[in-house]
Amino acid sequence: MSHSQTMTAPLLAVKDLRVTFATPDGDVTAVNDLNFSLRAGETLGIVGESGSGKSQTAFALMGLLASNGRTGGSARFNDREILNLPESQMNRLRAEQIAMIFQDPMTSLNPYMRVGEQLMEVLMLHKRMSKSDAFNASVRMLDAVRMPEARKRMRMYPHEFSGGMRQRVMIAMALLCRPQLLIADEPTTALDVTVQAQIMTLLNELKREFNTAIIMITHDLGVVAGLCDQVLVMYAGRTMEYGSARDIFYRPSHPYSRGLLSAVPALDSEEEMLLTIPGNPPNLLHLPSGCPFRPRCPWAMEECGQTPALTPFEQGRLRACYKPLEEMV
Ligand SMILES: Nc1ncnc2c1ncn2[C@@H]1O[C@H](COP(=O)(O)OP(=O)(O)OP(=O)(O)O)[C@@H](O)[C@H]1O
Ligand SMILES: [Mg+2]
Repeated sequence: MSHSQTMTAPLLAVKDLRVTFATPDGDVTAVNDLNFSLRAGETLGIVGESGSGKSQTAFALMGLLASNGRTGGSARFNDREILNLPESQMNRLRAEQIAMIFQDPMTSLNPYMRVGEQLMEVLMLHKRMSKSDAFNASVRMLDAVRMPEARKRMRMYPHEFSGGMRQRVMIAMALLCRPQLLIADEPTTALDVTVQAQIMTLLNELKREFNTAIIMITHDLGVVAGLCDQVLVMYAGRTMEYGSARDIFYRPSHPYSRGLLSAVPALDSEEEMLLTIPGNPPNLLHLPSGCPFRPRCPWAMEECGQTPALTPFEQGRLRACYKPLEEMV
């Protein structure tokens, strides 16, 4: 990080972010007092098993929560509060400054429209570009995401692309308006391992090229190691551990992070990965008292019945666990 960057305010500052859903069986807290910040060009990984609250964190920031969802806390983007913005302002922010890539590219691409038209439409609508400028800028962006024969592909429909190529189109579309922040929600889980690696490499190159800050959401701690500066490990809506990707990958400090790291995803199934941490993530309606990971934790102790506070323990690192690190062997 350059000196000038360290002096500036963060691009995104999230404080005590909370997402609560009203359900017929009572309120559930899907995101429980999350705190993190991100500077221009930085990458944050949010990692956790299914149901830990990763997507709802992203949806809260993007103003995309389901209608029974409520947010609490604050999220300041360029020093402006973005939680609960009026729809018109949120639309502009989403179009121009914060872009999101969803897990399944087909949910965001129109199957009946040529890929080129979909890209051009974004630029003509939001950047008021002429048709020919939009065409040229779209081809350049397809080139930037290493799409072979970009010009020819402009005329093709989404179903004519492979899964990996479609995801490249989604990344191109997300970057078209040069957003300052890109939120990528499991952008590679639908892809095979080789293609996953290519997309990660691409994102790594693009973040340097465009100086885009990225929030990378994934099940897989291994995925974030090469891409992220900071990592937030999430479980049952709470932060279990927060720190540099390097520290968390090489010296995980929370039993849950350790479990995630030793969970090697099977090539053909996501389910397999969960098996190496015994048990399942808890039902948010019936959370155990204290640390939510307690029922699955090999080091659980009596005091874990009281929720451990997120506590600094090393330079730039936080963990929510009572077990002394040196005893975790
Ligand atoms: N509209 C809703 N009403 C009630 N609960 C909801 C609603 N939407 C999400 N949830 C709950 O919020 C919790 C967190 O969901 P979220 O989608 O953030 O998980 P995730 O970490 O993204 O998981 P995955 O890896 O499977 O995508 C889940 O327990 C889910 O059931
Ligand atoms: Mg999700």
